[in-house]
Amino acid sequence: MKTQKIFEGKTLAILSGGGDTPAINSSIEQIRNRAQILGFKVYGVRYGWKGLLGEGNVVDLTNQRYDGWYGGSFLKSSRTNPFPSKKNPENRVPQILENLKKYKIDYLVTIGGDDTNGAAKKLFETEGIPVIGFPKTIDNDLRTRTFHHYQGKEIEAVLCPGFPTALEVVTELSLQIRTTAQSHQRIMVLEVMGRDAGWLVSGAAYGLADIILIPEYHIDKENKERFFEKVKEKYHNNPHKALVIAVSEGTRWYNEKTGQTEVVYASTETDEYGHARLGGVSGLIASEISAKLGIDARAQSIGYFARSGRCGNYDRRLTAALADKVMDLLLREEYGKMPVLSRIVPQEDLEEFNISTIDMGNIGNQPLPLDYYNPNDFTVTEAYLDFLKTILGKELPHDVEVHFPVVKP
Ligand code: F6P
Repeated sequence: MKTQKIFEGKTLAILSGGGDTPAINSSIEQIRNRAQILGFKVYGVRYGWKGLLGEGNVVDLTNQRYDGWYGGSFLKSSRTNPFPSKKNPENRVPQILENLKKYKIDYLVTIGGDDTNGAAKKLFETEGIPVIGFPKTIDNDLRTRTFHHYQGKEIEAVLCPGFPTALEVVTELSLQIRTTAQSHQRIMVLEVMGRDAGWLVSGAAYGLADIILIPEYHIDKENKERFFEKVKEKYHNNPHKALVIAVSEGTRWYNEKTGQTEVVYASTETDEYGHARLGGVSGLIASEISAKLGIDARAQSIGYFARSGRCGNYDRRLTAALADKVMDLLLREEYGKMPVLSRIVPQEDLEEFNISTIDMGNIGNQPLPLDYYNPNDFTVTEAYLDFLKTILGKELPHDVEVHFPVVKP
């Protein structure tokens, strides 16, 4: 007798939108593999929501070669918003419904942040499309209700796929840039992505950054004076006469000319979700340090390196555990939901029993909590170092110390 496959004849499509991360292909592969075992035909929608507009741009992923270790997304990405926006007032939902029908897509799994998953949730609520979300962001700013148990306290943290690999890049590059700073006795101001949240830039603490500026803590007139005092003090106390200052691209910095504390934009052009591109604050801070303190300072941006390259081990296992939960949600017909990590755990504990679910879309942002940042010293707290240690799985590195005997003439 022929065994009935659970989802035989059904089609599941995977779509990924917004900025890429090194864990997107891993997420796609893990979801594809599991769905295939349950008897689904698995499609990939190319270019995010854009792939469901017009004629549609859909590929068959079933039984195809798929390398989940390779960073970025083989399905490509876009920041297309299917719902009317300021930039594009047209309602393109009818086109989406048309394509879902045309390609006979029964279920949709959307990999994204609040924008992509928010649009998917709206489709579920207004059109009854069975959708399941999947988190993704190097900014790590989604309110996933992931708790970090630290010294008897429950800190509301976040841990989204893409962030652990980006964290490794940020910690390594912060550590790496020390050597040139030390040989020139300079201050290197290192700019890190993260939009309006300080999670990623604070990872530079594990790369021994001496000072960290996060978007959540505004550098207004008064704090700016304190900042320069701190820079002077730390620079002169440093045995190498060198510092690494990691600054978030979203740092709010006091502008003497306007009298306002503001962000620096790389471009004011906005995407279909209304976001403008940030960038350039490191240059401003480096030149103000040189001018005010007379210390040689240079700016360097980690930029897109944070989200480039191979998927790290932590992300690989995290995406696997989340993909297990996607199947669970499908089997239970719990649509409009998204799997998330329920508590901060080391790599070995990334299993389905540490995954919970939340309503997808409009889940809101989670800034870096005060438990993790020490504004007096412009550094992170022990609690954040513990958070980083759990994810990175290694001890905090040590700075080099060399003392040569001085030659007397
Ligand atoms: O949200 C992810 C992110 O990498 C942010 O850190 C950054 O501000 C933005 O995307 C850059 O977007 P784009 O890829 O459109 O330049």
